[in-house]
Amino acid sequence: CLTPELLHLYELTDRIVVVVDILRATSCMTTALAHGVEKIIPVATLEECRALQAQGYISAAERDAKKADGFELDNSPFSYMQEHLKGKTIAMTTTNGTLAITRSREAIQVIIGSFLNKTAVVEYLRSQPHDVLILCAGWKGRVNLEDTLFAGAVVDELKDEFLIEDDATLGAHTIYGCAKYNMLKSMASSSHVKRLHRLNLARDIEFCIREDEYQVIPILQGNALVAMVKA
Ligand code: MLT
Repeated sequence: CLTPELLHLYELTDRIVVVVDILRATSCMTTALAHGVEKIIPVATLEECRALQAQGYISAAERDAKKADGFELDNSPFSYMQEHLKGKTIAMTTTNGTLAITRSREAIQVIIGSFLNKTAVVEYLRSQPHDVLILCAGWKGRVNLEDTLFAGAVVDELKDEFLIEDDATLGAHTIYGCAKYNMLKSMASSSHVKRLHRLNLARDIEFCIREDEYQVIPILQGNALVAMVKA
């Protein structure tokens, strides 16, 4: 599903949903849990995040790629590698990524995908008997390139084991086939890549497209993302 706006077209109750927001929400979530953060509570609004902050949670809020005023953490993956965050719970809201998560709650499972944990996600999906929906967070209801490329990369790995059921999946795979030999160059014209460059965040872009930095898979348990404990 290339944008949460189309999520209503899909039955979620019999699927695993992989939420992806490469730049940068799900890359941050994966990095955070890989570096010892205990839980991340994804919320859709600044107000919800502020309420959790008032309860004592560490707060992370991004809007339009910038840290929202009055909150502690931004949406750079490098901010989630800090030692003092180990064992902590973070309340997080981002422009698109956390909204996509909150819209996926009917799914059998909601897991977090990024290039940083791509193979761990692929191997997990391969081991499960359920249908899968890769939910691209996009940008404010619109399709974006980088999330679509991740979806295509996962399809490329699983295409012989899963039935491709719609053209969105087919399209993502085709686009990935054109881009996979030079992802950074292929993404250069992405609107969000250009937005992040304007904010001097090229380092974040380069980190978020690294493959398999981590093995951790964040999974939604109740209202929080935790590191999946593998059988
Ligand atoms: C998003 O929610 O789309 C991203 O987190 C935005 C960003 O981090 O720049």
